[in-house]
Amino acid sequence: MYYLIYISTAVKLMNPEELTEILTSSRKKNLENNITGMLLYAEGTFIQVLEGSEHDVLSTYRTITMDLRHKNLIKLVSAPLAKRAFPEWSMGFAVIAPLKMAELQGYINPDDIFFEDSASDPAINIMKTFVENNNLTSSFL
Ligand SMILES: Cc1cc2nc3c(=O)[nH]c(=O)nc-3n(C[C@H](O)[C@H](O)[C@H](O)COP(=O)(O)O)c2cc1C
Repeated sequence: MYYLIYISTAVKLMNPEELTEILTSSRKKNLENNITGMLLYAEGTFIQVLEGSEHDVLSTYRTITMDLRHKNLIKLVSAPLAKRAFPEWSMGFAVIAPLKMAELQGYINPDDIFFEDSASDPAINIMKTFVENNNLTSSFL
């Protein structure tokens, strides 16, 4: 298993229909490609975690990077993963407050992450904990 977390900027503020469109096609393709994960959106910023085989994660990420609905993609972390953090989600989704997004990005800052020394898969566990602490586990569109 392998995972990748990136952030990006939507080219415009997304309305619910546009988010639904992204999610519907993403979930369909992720089911085919054995990708699971979580997508969070806050006023024009996306953060997404993709998990699956290294090959599937990297090829899905490559497709996503070419999507003209967002820009300025920054890969925050990619690494081997012992076990999926979001096994039941072809792509979980929630809209969050911009301050929460800033907080989350701060936690996942690759420069700081080694302070979580003993934890395995620290970045993805931060995402998982964040989703659980904010009761985002059922925030599907
Ligand atoms: C923020 C964002 C997240 C996306 N997440 C995924 C994803 O998890 N999996 C996926 O296959 N496509 C995802 N996409 C969509 C792809 O970029 C692309 O549009 C889609 O895979 C193309 O599907 P199609 O070839 O069936 O039209 C995402 C797009 C955006 C803008």
